[in-house]
Amino acid sequence: MRLAISTGGGDAPGLNAVIRAAVLSAINRGWDVCGIKRGFAGLLGEDEVVPLTRESVRGIAHLGGTILRTTNRGNPFHYPRVQSDGSIIEEDRSDELIDNARRLGIDAVISIGGDGSLTIAKLLCDRGMKVVGVPKTIDNDVSGTITTFGFDTAVNTALDAIDKLHTTAESHDRVIVLEVMGRDAGFIALHSGLAGTADVILIPEIPYDISKVCEKIQARDRAGRHFSIVVVAEGAFPRGGTVSLIGESLPGESRRLGGLCEPIAREIQQRTGKETRSLVLGHLQRGGMPTGYDRLLATRFGGAAVRAVADGKWGHMVALQSPHIVTIPIEDALREPKRVDPRHDVVLTARATGISFGD
Ligand code: F6P
Repeated sequence: MRLAISTGGGDAPGLNAVIRAAVLSAINRGWDVCGIKRGFAGLLGEDEVVPLTRESVRGIAHLGGTILRTTNRGNPFHYPRVQSDGSIIEEDRSDELIDNARRLGIDAVISIGGDGSLTIAKLLCDRGMKVVGVPKTIDNDVSGTITTFGFDTAVNTALDAIDKLHTTAESHDRVIVLEVMGRDAGFIALHSGLAGTADVILIPEIPYDISKVCEKIQARDRAGRHFSIVVVAEGAFPRGGTVSLIGESLPGESRRLGGLCEPIAREIQQRTGKETRSLVLGHLQRGGMPTGYDRLLATRFGGAAVRAVADGKWGHMVALQSPHIVTIPIEDALREPKRVDPRHDVVLTARATGISFGD
């Protein structure tokens, strides 16, 4: 068995722990393992396919990022090509990719990625490639698994920021609006906001009304709490409005969400008269050491993915369905993206403890 491993899409803390667990599990079965660099681009003439040995994965479980590198613009079915006039077209290079994998003697692939990479994995499987998926995203927006590695680390990074912002906001009687990642899901904002006892949490699943946000801040002011912390998910939007986008996306890239915390801060200051500042936490949430929870989950996913390969579970992905790691068809996970359920106990408890969702 020659097993290849690839990491695609945005990085997430825990990727290296998956790689390590998969490589060691495979080597201990007597398999040969290689890594495809930069998502699937390593099979399309860009960069390379490298051997993965015990030495290559030594001492990497605690490191953020991915030793295999990654890309969010490497979809082989829509691969960007720059033309001589500078314009960019997209090509279907999946046949070339499958031929190259065959030529390199690759028997099976473990594809670690979010919904985009899992969709690619499923399409490659439909074309006869033997692929097992491992879900990855800090956004926690993949269905079929209770959570994904990277999410807990991102929540802890956001929580650390909220804790620090609290002390300075309180000292200055300020409102501080913190923007966190999550794409179209509000999990990072909700979990960090509740754990960090924010005063307002704005998420895409509950469109907000800015006047309700200001009412909450003013009510706190009247009660002698002269500061407020507002946690905003990058994909949040006002009732009847649309999401905020930052600049142009590159060809093949998803739209870039965000940039809403400063306009929200300006509006709060204008309407309440309270000094209001904003902060975009950005890619800090994707970096750094995975938490113990994420490291363990990632390691369990890596081991389970190799078992799924041994069992020939092509087109399946590993998933956490506590207390077990199971395998489920990738298409089941992709049917509907996971979103915050506004009736979930986390939302109910947030409301019950006085947090406003601006609705
Ligand atoms: O999906 C993970 C994520 O970090 C999102 O939360 C965010 O919208 C996006 O990726 C940012 O991607 P990039 O690093 O490509 O701008």
